[in-house]
Parts: sequence; structure tokens; C-alpha cells
Amino acid sequence: MLLSGGGTTLQNILDCCQSGRIDARVIAVVSSRPGVGGLARAERAGVPALLVERKAHPDTPAFSAALAAALAPHKPDLVCMAGFMSLWTIPEEYQGRVMNIHPALIPAFCGHGFYGHHVHEAVLAAGAKVSGATVHFADNQYDHGPIILQRAVPVLEGDTPDSLAARVHCVENELYPEAIQLFAEGRLVIEAGACAF
Ligand code: GAR
Repeated sequence: MLLSGGGTTLQNILDCCQSGRIDARVIAVVSSRPGVGGLARAERAGVPALLVERKAHPDTPAFSAALAAALAPHKPDLVCMAGFMSLWTIPEEYQGRVMNIHPALIPAFCGHGFYGHHVHEAVLAAGAKVSGATVHFADNQYDHGPIILQRAVPVLEGDTPDSLAARVHCVENELYPEAIQLFAEGRLVIEAGACAF
């Protein structure tokens, strides 16, 4: 799993693997930022926790090469981005095997700069009546690629970024395990840029 922050998404996946809800195992966690909660959560779970710091690399190609080198010995079947805030160029061998979760209904409220509370602030500022979460296969753009699952939540009168984030987060915690389990069962097919199962 790739992350850059607190790691609540990682924790949910770890818990789902532990409970058997997902028939998979987290074999390594790579963070693009040092000292984040996600690395501590990985260590507590006994999962190798690696740092490939974005700031230590001059550009996306150099960072992407370092990331690929860190992943290689672990031979992951699937790479899951879980609050991973850095762009990387996905190596050919991982095409169709990298997922991302985004706390909105893409293609709305996503892309560069749309992460964490910025997303929910933008949804509220636009007066949108629904938001939600999306799990998608990743390509080489932020929050972009074939959509696997989406689930909507209402935006309620009086919502704050915090209250909307909490509602979306509940849905994120359902959606990512479902998508990973579909992948584990070999049920996801990408055709003409879209995902079916
Ligand atoms: C999650 O809400 C995830 O959907 C979002 O970052 C959060 C990570 O939380 N991802 C994006 O915004 C991607 N554009 P966490 O660090 O506690 O897992």
C-alpha cells in the first residue's frame, strides 16, 4: 500500500484482511512522507514500512523509479494507494494493478490539490447535493482511471467539511475492501478504458 498520511485507510484494509473480509494480505507499506501515522500503523501490524520520500527526488521520473525499486522485492499482485499524495508514473508491469480511493464522485472534485478536507470544502462551496467515494484503477494522472466502484452520500444542510468527511469516510471504509476483494477474486476486467465485473 502507498500512503502519505495518517493511514486510517490502511488500518481499515489491515483490519479487513485480519477478519477475513478481504482474502488478501498487506505485504508492504510505502510512504512518500516521513514520520506519518501510516508508517506507525504498518509497524504496529508487523508489516514492512518503507519510506520513499518525494522531497528527496528531483522530479516525478526519479521518484517513480525509486518507488518501483522499493516495491520490486515484494512482488505485489495489487498496489493500493491510500491517501497517497504524490504523482508517480506507473510502470508497465503494474498497469491495471494499481487502485486508488478518492473521497468524492470522480470526475467531480478530484485532481491535483483535491485531497483530504480540500475535497469536502470544494463540494460544500459548490453547493453540491451529493458527494461520495470512488475506487478506481489508477493511471498516470491524479484521481484518474477506470472506475471500479462508487457510492453516493447526501450533502446535508448545515454540513461542515468535518461532518461531510465523516459521512464519506464510512462509505470509503466499505468501498475499498469490496473493490480489493473483487480484484482478489479475479472479477475485475478493464475494457476500452472502463472497468466491469
Ligand atoms: C482518504 O480519505 C482518501 O480517500 C483520500 O485521502 C484520505 C487518506 O486518509 N485520498 C485522496 O484525497 C486522493 N486524492 P488516511 O491517510 O487517513 O488513510
